[in-house]
This record gives sequence, C-alpha cells and structure tokens, in this order.
Amino acid sequence: MPGIFNVTRAAEANLEVVRKHGPLLRFVNVFNPMRRTILIADSALLKEIYVGKDWEKWERGHEVLKRSQIFAGGLILMHNDERWRGARELFGRALTNVALRSYWPIIKGNISTFMEVISEHNKVHGEVDLQEYFTKFTFDTIVRLTFGEDIQTMRGGENLKYIKAWDDLLGSAGIATLLEMFAGQWAASRLDKKIRAAEDVLHSLIRANIERRNKGIDLDRSSIFDIAYESGKVPDFMDEPEMTKQLMTMLFGGHDTTASMLGFLAGHLAENQEWQDRIRMEIIDAMGTDAELNLDKLEGLKCLNAAIKETLRLYPAAVNGAHRMATEDWDYTYTGTDGQTKLIRLKSNDFILNAIFASQRYAPNWSKRHPSAMDEWNPQWFLDDLNGGGNTAFSQAPFGGGARKCLGEKLAYLEGRTIVSELLRNYKIVPVKGWKLKTFQPSMLSTAGVRVHLVPLS
Ligand code: HEM
Repeated sequence: MPGIFNVTRAAEANLEVVRKHGPLLRFVNVFNPMRRTILIADSALLKEIYVGKDWEKWERGHEVLKRSQIFAGGLILMHNDERWRGARELFGRALTNVALRSYWPIIKGNISTFMEVISEHNKVHGEVDLQEYFTKFTFDTIVRLTFGEDIQTMRGGENLKYIKAWDDLLGSAGIATLLEMFAGQWAASRLDKKIRAAEDVLHSLIRANIERRNKGIDLDRSSIFDIAYESGKVPDFMDEPEMTKQLMTMLFGGHDTTASMLGFLAGHLAENQEWQDRIRMEIIDAMGTDAELNLDKLEGLKCLNAAIKETLRLYPAAVNGAHRMATEDWDYTYTGTDGQTKLIRLKSNDFILNAIFASQRYAPNWSKRHPSAMDEWNPQWFLDDLNGGGNTAFSQAPFGGGARKCLGEKLAYLEGRTIVSELLRNYKIVPVKGWKLKTFQPSMLSTAGVRVHLVPLS
C-alpha cells in the first residue's frame, strides 16, 4: 500500500493511487498474503457502510490494530456489540448539547488563556505558530473535559510532561504496530517499556480523579468522567481499567483531530484575506467586537461554518476514518476511473480503510465541482449547496456517519467556532513571509506549523 511506505505523506500517496486506479483498491500484505487491506474512496459504498441496513456487519476492532488498544481501545475499537452500546449510551450523555453548555465556561476559560499566551508570544517574537498553541489548547481542553483535570500546558511548566507522554505513547505504539506487521512481535515488544512509562504518566491523571470522586470531593464538577458517573448508568463491565481505556480513547479522539482542524482553518484564513474579512464581519455583525460570545449566535455563523466544512473536506484529521472489518464475503459493483463497471469481492476479515481524505478529494464523488478544483479551498461551495457540490451527503463525511459516527463532532465545532471568533474579533492574521501550509501524517498537522503575525484590530 503506497501509504505504508510513505508514512508522513500517506494520505496524499493513497489519493494519487485512487485518482489513477479508481475508488476501490485491494492490497495484499506480501509478508502475510491472507491479510488484505481494502481502501474505499467511493462515497456510495462509504454511505452503505455508515448507514446501510446492514451497517452492523461492518465491524470495528480488527486484530491488526491490537497495539492501538492502549489509546483507542474504548469506543473507537469496540465491536458492534452490547458493550459498545452501553459505552456509547454512557458517553453520549456526556456529549449532548446540554452537556456541552455545561462545559462552555471551561472552554471559554481555556480560550482566554490561549488568547493571552499567543498575544504575549506575538508581542515578544513578532510572530506566533498558532498550530503549536492549538495543539496545547485542545490537549488542555480535552484533558479537562474528559478527566476533570486542569493542566494548563499552554502556560508551559511541569505539566508539559503530560503532552510529552501522550506524544511518546502515540509515536511508540504507532511504530510498534508497523514493526509487528513487518518484523514480528519480538521487534515490536522492544518498545513496550517506553509505552508503559508514558501510559503511567497519563493514567495518574485518571487515578487522581477516581480517588477524588471516591472521597466525595467536587462531585458536581462538569466533565465527561463526572457526568458518566453521575448518570448512574455505568455498565457492569466498565470496571476501573475499562473506564481508563474509555477515557484514554476520548483523549485520542479529541486532541490532534481538533488541533488539525483549527490549524488548517487558521492557515487558510491567513492565506485568504477576503474570506478572513468576510468571516470577521459576520462575527462582529452577530456579536459585536467585545460582547460575550453567544452559543446560539456562534452556531448561526454561516460563512464560518462553511469555512470549517471546507477545511474538514480537504484535511479530515482521521484520514482513513476509524476503519471497518468485513465479517462475510460480499460483492460490490462500482465505476472505475475508465468509466467501466467493475466488481470487487470483499472477504471476511478484510481490513477496510474508509479513505475519507481520498474520497473528499476524488472528483467523481463531487460532480458539481470542476475536477481540476478538487484541491482548492473554497467555502463558497458550502454556502451555495447543502452538500458542498458533492453527489450525496456522504461525499463530505469527516466525522463518518450512522450509529458509529464521531461522538465529538459538536464539541469540535464548538471549539472551532469559539476560538476563531475570538481570534478574528481581535486580530488580523497575516502569514509570515515565505510560510506555506504543508500536510503531515499520521496526525494531520502542518509540518511548517501555522506561522502568522497577529495585527491588533484596535
Ligand atoms: C475535527 C475533529 C474530529 C474529527 C475529524 C473526528 C473524526 C472521527 C471519525 C472519522 C470517526 C469514525 C466514525 C465512523 O467510522 O463512522 C470518529 C469516531 C469517534 N470520535 Fe471523533 N473526530 C473529531 C473529534 C472528536 C472529539 C472532540 C472527540 C471527543 C470528545 C471524538 C471522539 C470520538 C469517538 C469516541 C469516536 C468513536 C465513536 C464510536 O465508535 O461509537 N472525536 N471521529
């Protein structure tokens, strides 16, 4: 698979192959021919997998991802079974609109810290890398919302050890997965010590909050963890290790994903002053220059919402979604790049990648847009057309769809609308000379950062 040999540009490499050979690709692992990976960039088939009547037969939790259990073994990697239903219901309660409103003061508090630290950095250095602070902002926010712990890495200091532990955990577990695939379990297990050390640092946060609740301290604190316990609906199977796994999964779901969305959005706004002005006017028309931001008004910002959608079309943080696994053999016909009808047989145990990045840039899924404009950032499409020029509502599906759709979509939008509104009400964002956005995987970030000058508006 091209992406495997080009880890930092995996999504782009796979897109090139999709554009050349078609929206459904089958790869066979030369080291293990029984293991097949299917890449799906056909939006009609993705729709079938998400919301078709047989959605449950597209399982999660394929064995190739067993090393990712450490950070995604909660909801993301659970099978479509009773345990998943119980966990989904429990955490769904902690991410409803009502719950999000209870988190609003926390999010606003973190955004005020963000504004303070970037302003200071900009004053001292004449420029600031917004991506660096978005990454810390989303980490602080998801740690606070998930575990109930306020770590404020945006301010630097000792708590940066948590963000370092998180990066070590993801980096080492990712390398271990590749090593296991190509060099065997022994090679992969050499990273176990490093993984455990990073895990311990993060688990200490969870343990501290379990102890807090056991001692009856701060029982009315608003967090995903507290709301889950408060609900009295914690399923029987969710003992302390299982709860820990679930909370780590929330952290994984809500950190780099949202930082990526914020970084590429701010980057495009810096590169495109017309859209920046248009969105700034919309924000100021709705909420003025220094009045308190208002949740309902934020939701109604059409241009900003269109800009977020277009950013998520070009840079969906989960480039291959949360994968699926076929549970039975299944034939599917589709149209190839040559316009011919083709047939693919999916086999039981196939590892399926929902190639969101590729499908959102693959011209045949977007019949209204010109094929040569698929890589252009143009939010106007989402203002003029509900599907942004896509053939169906599933041409654009950065959060997946159906019963297993992302649980954090509303939270990501809320963070995005709020932080961009504060930024644009206060500053004109101007790119540093010579800087350009550059994508980088496995987390969809910009290798060049998002380097800008912040010019105060008043
Ligand atoms: C821009 C930000 C985000 C993007 C692009 C994103 C993307 C996704 C995608 C593609 C899936 C798989 C959906 C499917 O296969 O149908 C997913 C699942 C999930 N996401 Fe997100 N996500 C984002 C933010 C968040 C946040 C903030 C949280 C945490 C609060 C979160 C928690 C989850 C969870 C728990 C699942 C698994 C749901 C299940 O399997 O039942 N995500 N996300």
